[in-house]
Amino acid sequence: MTQDTTWLNRQRVFFEEGQSLWLFGYGSLIWKAEFAYHERRPARIEGWARRFWQGSHDHRGTPKSPGRVATLVESPGTTCQGMAYRIDADTLGPLDIREKNGYLRERVVLHFHDGSHAEGLIYLATEGNAAFLGDAPLLEMARQIAKAHGPSGSNRDYLLNLAAALEDLGAVDEHVFTLARQVHELQGDG
Ligand code: BEZ
Repeated sequence: MTQDTTWLNRQRVFFEEGQSLWLFGYGSLIWKAEFAYHERRPARIEGWARRFWQGSHDHRGTPKSPGRVATLVESPGTTCQGMAYRIDADTLGPLDIREKNGYLRERVVLHFHDGSHAEGLIYLATEGNAAFLGDAPLLEMARQIAKAHGPSGSNRDYLLNLAAALEDLGAVDEHVFTLARQVHELQGDG
């Protein structure tokens, strides 16, 4: 259930050494950017949907009780809103370690609100990785999220912080918002 992708990511150098690059955050990176950046801008990517399909055994859950965190799945016609950070390439080093449980660097095109676009990176956890949980009924996912805790905190806080950050961005994401509503209801604070 764990697969350390740090070394694989070190070989996925899709950018010019010494130049800054755009990193697109669609999960915790939207509200929790614990790294240095030159600027950040709301952005979107096309053809991807955010889904709570990746298991978290190391941050928001444990090997015995894994949490669920966001990844992206290809979805033609779907827009995913998030936050883009312009960073130095060496900033990726610590992020490769933080997101080592199945996430790989992948290239995407970012679209900014002013109509411009740029190539950037995402961290993507695909079906083949050892921590991948995949789809499940939403209520089942909500129950799992409501009870999971890990070294980085509760899975519930991860979900609710993401839902709040997306609302702040004016983004609509029914998958995230429905899960957040269900977790509130399950915990009697809805
Ligand atoms: C994100 O916020 O984009 C993200 C965070 C952790 C792993 C993968 C993606």
